[in-house]
Amino acid sequence: MLRIFKKATPETLEEIAEEMRVRKTAKFVMLFSMGSQFDHLIVQQLAKLGAFCVVADPSAVTADDVKKAVPAGLILSGGPASVETEPPPFDENIFDLGIPTLGVCLGFQMWAKHIGARVPQSSKREFGVHDLTVVGSDPLFEGVPRKTPVLHSHGDAVLPDSVVTVLGSTENAPVAAGRYKHLWGVQFHPEVTETTEGTRMYDNFLKICGIIDRFPAHNVAEQKIAELKKQIADKKVLIALSGGSDSSVVAYLLKQAADKNERLTKSFIRGVYIRGIDRPDDEAYVQKYFGSPPAGGWIELEIVDATALFLDALRGKVAMREKRLAMQSVYRDVLEEKIKEFGADFIAQGTLYTDLRESGAGHATGARVAEIKVHHNVGISFSVPELRPLEDQVKDSARGIGRDLGVPEDLLVRHPFPGPGLVVRIEGEVTAEKLKTARAVDGIYIEELRAAKLYETIWQAGAVITLSEHTVSKGDDAGLGHVVALWAVWSVNGFTARAAQLPYEFLDRVSRRITNEVREVGAVVYRISDKPPATIEWG
Ligand code: XMP
Repeated sequence: MLRIFKKATPETLEEIAEEMRVRKTAKFVMLFSMGSQFDHLIVQQLAKLGAFCVVADPSAVTADDVKKAVPAGLILSGGPASVETEPPPFDENIFDLGIPTLGVCLGFQMWAKHIGARVPQSSKREFGVHDLTVVGSDPLFEGVPRKTPVLHSHGDAVLPDSVVTVLGSTENAPVAAGRYKHLWGVQFHPEVTETTEGTRMYDNFLKICGIIDRFPAHNVAEQKIAELKKQIADKKVLIALSGGSDSSVVAYLLKQAADKNERLTKSFIRGVYIRGIDRPDDEAYVQKYFGSPPAGGWIELEIVDATALFLDALRGKVAMREKRLAMQSVYRDVLEEKIKEFGADFIAQGTLYTDLRESGAGHATGARVAEIKVHHNVGISFSVPELRPLEDQVKDSARGIGRDLGVPEDLLVRHPFPGPGLVVRIEGEVTAEKLKTARAVDGIYIEELRAAKLYETIWQAGAVITLSEHTVSKGDDAGLGHVVALWAVWSVNGFTARAAQLPYEFLDRVSRRITNEVREVGAVVYRISDKPPATIEWG
């Protein structure tokens, strides 16, 4: 699925040529994936602009391979490496081929170092949104306002140097954008939504590369259904349903791929919902939309209560990674048992590209990729092959596919909820008592968000039972209660997020309700960090 270019063999060159014929284009961009959290967003930006992009492995591709493949442009993504202390694997002769190249963050630093500019570790690490001041009139910034917000996330930085022409600067990055002959570079990330003019910058770069014949955006849902039809044929599929949007979209894709009448579809697709570490209302959503008519009833739905198994596996575990692994093993065991019972040939999951990338997977190139967290549905070995039709999508595009398929809006607009559920929202050991508290708190928070008509304006919100304890005096009694940390973010796809500025009166009301109604809670705080550098979930 995520095909990576490693060598210019006759087969790989023919594959690219074939794809160009299908897309009715004569040109393509080669993206060297340097391990950035955002590199798939570059692929999506280019897809949105109708350009064909081939993802390449920087540790395998040589200048000779690039010459043979003849890309119209090159993009080097960002990545966790440092050009000074840990130069990423890359054949630098590629920079001398004369092909228009855009380096993003690490990619910029790589070509800047190659041509002799200084790229030291910057004294001020830059994370977050800054104003870019555009300098001069380079085609890369055609149509971009002179001042525009951009998202930075880097430690090293290119220093002003006579060989690099400065095209833009921010407060802490004098060379936030630069150019040397056919090499362009930006220190920020044009692929994220916070860089509001980012799409225009990529469009400008495509024009610089002469990529004018864009292929029309095809109907992704139809393409996915056709692929699934071929894969499934008459075989049986077990799907893990969570009541959230991604697994629901996958269920609808399967329904259309199965293409049988209702009664028959039921014998080909079985949904399993695992109870235990879920939100208060997840099970009700699954029952309503999959369990019985009018909305559901077209698949066989089974609810498995794994509360005891989860608590058992989590007993004594404190570190978040350990808890995530324990959760993953119960999740696998339950599904494995159901695979056997149903005689399933495949297991389908709503895994998104975000999950793959954050688990250190994603575009599998030789560049180092940081593992941010173990995602519950990545890296499990099941006894049957997995179907992950959304593995090349992020949240907003997966929702778009859902809308194409007629998935009820009520399901699509639900806030994302992580597979490990409340486990990642409880610090320290997960106990039945803490799960109960976490559910009660989540229930109040979400209920109030809905009542205040804030739910739809927020991308995701959650409440964490922290390890901190707070002294409480309730009535005549005194003692200690958990400190609960509320958070809410604005985002488009989960790759980046901003802390939502919830009205103070709203937070005040929620805090009062939580401390009054949930005996175990001593105090409520609100988290105000953005992603990056913080992730969305606490753990
Ligand atoms: P972070 O916390 O990494 O999360 O910024 C990005 C998005 O992914 C969700 N998330 C997960 N989803 N399995 C999932 O299916 C997981 O293990 C997992 N961990 C985080 C998170 O809720 C957010 O929407």
